[in-house]
Amino acid sequence: MILVTGGAGFIGANFVLDWLAQSDEPVINLDKLTYAGNLNNLASLRDDPRHIFVKGDIADSALVASLLATHQPRAVLHFAAESHVDRSIHGPAAFIETNVNGTFALLEAVRAYWSGLPEADKTAFRFLHVSTDEVYGTLGPDDAPFTETTAYAPNSPYSASKAASDHLVRAYHHTYGLPTLTTNCSNNYGPYHFPEKLIPLIITNARAGKALPVYGDGQQVRDWLYVSDHCAAIRRVLSAGRLGETYNIGGWNEMANLDVVNTLCDILDQIDPKAGGSYREQITYVADRPGHDRRYAIDARKIERELGWTPAETFETGIRKTVQWYLDHQEWVRDVQSGDYLKWVEKQYG
Ligand code: NAD
Ligand code: DAU
Repeated sequence: MILVTGGAGFIGANFVLDWLAQSDEPVINLDKLTYAGNLNNLASLRDDPRHIFVKGDIADSALVASLLATHQPRAVLHFAAESHVDRSIHGPAAFIETNVNGTFALLEAVRAYWSGLPEADKTAFRFLHVSTDEVYGTLGPDDAPFTETTAYAPNSPYSASKAASDHLVRAYHHTYGLPTLTTNCSNNYGPYHFPEKLIPLIITNARAGKALPVYGDGQQVRDWLYVSDHCAAIRRVLSAGRLGETYNIGGWNEMANLDVVNTLCDILDQIDPKAGGSYREQITYVADRPGHDRRYAIDARKIERELGWTPAETFETGIRKTVQWYLDHQEWVRDVQSGDYLKWVEKQYG
């Protein structure tokens, strides 16, 4: 079996659902259920014996050690993190706690478990660390996209904490021989995306008749990837990635934020029109994010060349599916937009 951390969050839940749709290999899912973790994402697995959910912290060494000893996973896939840049600006401590100290504690527990495995299991074992393109910092308009050898230059507390975790993973391979793999992916979108992030926030605000907040001039560029393509890339890296290597994952899909917001409004205008106007009229320019990275772009040629992975979705197909998913899952949206979420919206947007 495999152990997944953070499998109740956006990408982790999509990964667990995709994994069990394609294989009968069981998953132990360790998740602290922070505001971003949501068991409703995994509702379809409620009675599925292949999914063992454990509520807990990756920094709880005793818990992690006991899960490893009991279940003897052949791999650990590490998704758990504090993931929202704006929250890291308001409160960086939680990002250091989970992304740096939590990853360190997890690596220590995994190293102890791995060291005691029989030789064949030790050789076959993998620790796959899920990271981000934000560790590379920001690009100018004419710069080449990030490659695996681009120097790290994280600019936010979030990306600095992810960079630190990447360095720890690298060191555990180099020093202890832990069989690690690291992936650095661009912006994901798709089902179960928490509506504090741009795409789900715009869809849900639009339908609620609220302002569609665009930071600064809206010309910041992100490289969007449909989440199931990210999950497929992770499965591919797990099965065939070279030990100690990092793989960049991206959609070759750079778009300015304002173009993303306009696209979402246009799709909603077509499939869920509102009386007397376009959703574009709700667009509102708000204060820019401090330290806002201007452009991310991923050069995904290494994973394509070595592992044969390319994205299956284009932005046009993926974004339509995503909007439709949010229209079809209004109860899910209502559930996540309660209590703590409202406090966040008040703090961030006033
Ligand atoms: P998310 O915020 O939606 O989910 C994070 C999950 O981790 C939640 O379920 C949360 O409860 C859990 N968690 C947080 N702290 C924990 C702890 N201490 N112990 C156990 N569980 C804990 O995040 P996401 O968007 O799904 O991102 C998953 C991973 O992918 C992160 O490592 C992130 O850095 C990385 N990533 C995200 C994107 C993106 O666009 N969302 C892109 C590239 C990489
Ligand atoms: O690049 C990968 C990263 O993508 C991941 O590592 C992060 O976990 C994930 O959150 C995401 O980070 P971003 O900061 O790029 O995503 P976010 O959805 O928060 O913002 C996307 C862009 O939209 C960014 O330029 C900021 C802008 N934005 C965001 C919000 C929430 C707005 O203009 N208005 C908003 O209200």
